[in-house]
Order: sequence, then C-alpha cells, then structure tokens
Amino acid sequence: MTVRHDPRLKGFASDNYAGVHPEILQAIADANGGHQTSYGDDVYTEALQEVFRRHFGDTARAWPVFNGTAANVVSLRAMTAHWEAVVCAETAHINTDEGGAPEVAGGIKLLTVPTPDGKLTPELIDRQAWGFGDVHRAQPKVVSISNTTELGTVYTPGEIAAICAHAHDLGLLVHLDGSRLTNAAAALDVPLRALTTDAGVDVLSFGGTKIGLLYGEAVVVLNPGAATGVDYIRKTFMQLSSKMRFVSAQFEALLTDDLWLRNARRANAMGRRLAEAVRDLPGVEVPRPVEANAVFAILPKDVTARLQKRFRFYTWDESTGEVRWMCAWDTTEDDVDAFAAALAEELGA
Ligand SMILES: Cc1ncc(COP(=O)(O)O)c(C=O)c1O
Repeated sequence: MTVRHDPRLKGFASDNYAGVHPEILQAIADANGGHQTSYGDDVYTEALQEVFRRHFGDTARAWPVFNGTAANVVSLRAMTAHWEAVVCAETAHINTDEGGAPEVAGGIKLLTVPTPDGKLTPELIDRQAWGFGDVHRAQPKVVSISNTTELGTVYTPGEIAAICAHAHDLGLLVHLDGSRLTNAAAALDVPLRALTTDAGVDVLSFGGTKIGLLYGEAVVVLNPGAATGVDYIRKTFMQLSSKMRFVSAQFEALLTDDLWLRNARRANAMGRRLAEAVRDLPGVEVPRPVEANAVFAILPKDVTARLQKRFRFYTWDESTGEVRWMCAWDTTEDDVDAFAAALAEELGA
C-alpha cells in the first residue's frame, strides 16, 4: 500500500485527527482470525460487560456503537418518551455540532440554557425545568451535561452530584456526554465512576475514538431503570455493528492496564504545556481556563490565517477571533514547542 500522508505531521485541530494507539491496533489484530458470532454475540462483547462493571459498578451495561453522535441519540431516545425533552447547555455538542441529529433523527426536543463556561448548575437547569403537566410544553425529562465540556472545562464530582440530586428531585434523569470523560477523570485524578455512577449519572455516552480507538463509543446504562429498549433503538438507529468483536476488543484494551489514563494524561499535559507556552506572547489572550486537553485563544486574524497554513486548527468564533487548539493522546512536547515557536514567529512577522 502507498502511504499517502506524512505521518510526522500533526496539528491542533482535533483529537479526532490522531491515529490509532498501537495497543488498540494490537487488540484488533488479536481479535482477528477465525469466526465469531456477529451482531454482538461474540466473546469480546461478552467479556466487555465485566470490564465496564469494573470501572462503572455492578449495574453498568454497555452497548458499543459507531460514533459519539449516535451514542448520544440512542441514549437520549432510550431515556425519553415522544413528548419529553432534554435540558442542555446551549453550547452542548448535541445542540451545536450533531447536525440536528437528536432532533431530526431522534425526534428529541432540546431545551437549551446559555452558560458562561459550558457547565450547567442546578440554578441554570431551573431556567428550563418547568411546565410539568402543561400539555403545551415538551415535558422536561433528562438533563444532559458534557464532561469535559465543549469549552474545555471540567465538572468536578461534587458539581455533577449536585446536578444529579437536583434533577432527580424534579423527577428528571441525567445523561452525561462523556466523549472526553477520560480527559476529565485524568484532569481531576479520579476514577471514571467518580464522575458518573458515584455522582448519580443515569446514562453515559462513553467516548473511545478521541482517546486512541480506531472508532467506537458506547452507550452505558448505569441506572437500569433509566433507559428502555436500547437493544432495539441501537438497531433502529443503524448502530448495530455486525463485526462488533472489533469494537469491543478496542474498548477492552482501552480500559485495561490504564491505557485510557495514560493517553488522557498525556493529552491534558500537552494542553497545559501549550497554554503556558503561548499565554504571555504579546497579542495572544487565553480567555478560558485550560482544564484538560483544549486550549482556546484569541489571536489577530491575520496571524490565525498565516498559522493555519502551517498547522491545522479551527476558528471557534469568527466574530472575536477565538481559535481552539486540541491536544491528542499522541501530541508530543516537540509538537507543542514547534507550534508555539511558529505562533511567536507569525506574531512577530
Ligand atoms: C462533546 C462531544 N460529544 C460528542 C461528540 C461525538 O462526535 P462524533 O459523532 O463525531 O463521534 C463529540 C465530537 O467531537 C464531542 O466533542
């Protein structure tokens, strides 16, 4: 096969730009060979349930799916009836970056709340958690939060516990979009269950792709009473993988020997290193806290344009000139230093 890209080239656009961790590729190779029953009745998917219970507690059950948007849509559909709605931050991925999939494909009404930092609080939830029993209003049923958030911030176990207690008092369930849950747990140095099961989260979308998998995310039901029909919904939403053994084997590798933690610690450490390297450069403002692997910065627009010719990254907000830089499990100190040096050069140009 012809290698068609330069494998030394890395950017700061997204942790999705990174390749596959060698231990994950090895797990796929190990699961290869011979025949296994398709559609999830294979030995890898069976073993995976025990792996998820080890991390998330005895009641956890996981359903692997292809991507994060699907994990969210399947989770939320399984948690709501047709007349019910989901309260989320205005900046939530389910609201801003899923092409309307929760609404269009899932038929789920989103009730959004503006937040200063991407995080909901019990008070902010109350802006939308009202109108119970009013037939004219979609009935609030789920609160969905993301950890890490789309703005790179991290909810602590205490903050999530307060949200869950408040939601449950109102008769609402809690869904957590954990596309980057590993980064959040590594940032706080807590186990995965501290931010989910132990805090009272009912259903989790658990991310794998951004932290070293080839592909794969999972719907993880932590409270068995909170979701119904996940088996059927996953199929209806075209997320039942016939060769599921290869998704399950990847998750088993990720959740064994602390691979998730090693990868997340590296990505987060590179985020911190990048923030420190650029923070004091004249013309650069780092307007948000850097709590995991995302760094936001406001730059002069001509500098952004020139730097983007050298490294891939996205503009977050055209109106303010804010850009987003993401570090991945494979970002190195040299990558960060080269990028910071290029930024300094462009600022001086
Ligand atoms: C917070 C969050 N949730 C969910 C997703 C799911 O994404 P995808 O459907 O692209 O796998 C992403 C991807 O960027 C994300 O950042």
